[in-house]
Amino acid sequence: MASESNFTNFMERMWADYIKMTPQALQIYNLLQQNGETIINDHIALRTFNHPRLGIKSLAQHFTKYGYKESGEYFFVEKKLYAKHYQHENKEYPKIFISELELQKVSPLIQEIVSNCVNQISDAAIQDENFVFSGRHWICQHSVYEKLAKESEYASWVYAYGFRPNHFTVNINVLKNFSDILKLNNFLKQQGTKLNASGGEVKGTPQELLEQSSTMAAEIPVQFADGIYNIPGCYYEFAKRYPMTNGELYQGFIAKSADKIFESTNKNSM
Ligand code: NI
Repeated sequence: MASESNFTNFMERMWADYIKMTPQALQIYNLLQQNGETIINDHIALRTFNHPRLGIKSLAQHFTKYGYKESGEYFFVEKKLYAKHYQHENKEYPKIFISELELQKVSPLIQEIVSNCVNQISDAAIQDENFVFSGRHWICQHSVYEKLAKESEYASWVYAYGFRPNHFTVNINVLKNFSDILKLNNFLKQQGTKLNASGGEVKGTPQELLEQSSTMAAEIPVQFADGIYNIPGCYYEFAKRYPMTNGELYQGFIAKSADKIFESTNKNSM
């Protein structure tokens, strides 16, 4: 099995890619630290397509080699997504949530665009662990991005950004002064942070054993072959977990909540 220090380094490189894309997350991270908090990631989310060369497994292999195990599956019928989460016996390690767009359920247009993109990626690139934050491997047209977004915001996001963490998630349980999600949300809003309000700012309830909130992804300039355009990037999420009857904190995800959280990268949802 690959070593712990290699894994820490792998995580650090992934975080570096993420904050380059998401300065807002770094600002919040720094703000919480300045308030005396230690930040631990609850989970990191990755997106892909269920193409035979690129499905969940092609990303998951870079985590299972460090000892991660498949721990749950989720269905998002309307968005045509399927997801799995992976977790490590070391509870300090973030869970990895990987979703994929179910290509057999989308239009021939999306199928063709995706297959074109996938054909431009080498097997060697997919096998390299850096693949999970390697970005885009194809030439990208803004006009195509717009076409994809009309049918699937998810497809358009992966088309524009490629493979990279879509969000990191702060573990609220270990925060000292913000262990209440409403208190944390109010603090963030006072600092001018825009939260995703789709389905309410807090998704999930203590009875469901998981409460989540997230920022709305800020628009960032992206270079397309036909010019530079501002489009929604990545977001920062916050998760609070509650104990199950055996006293252990619930470690899974709630599909109904995740469904709304996916919309944090939508252009027109607010
Ligand atoms: Ni998440």
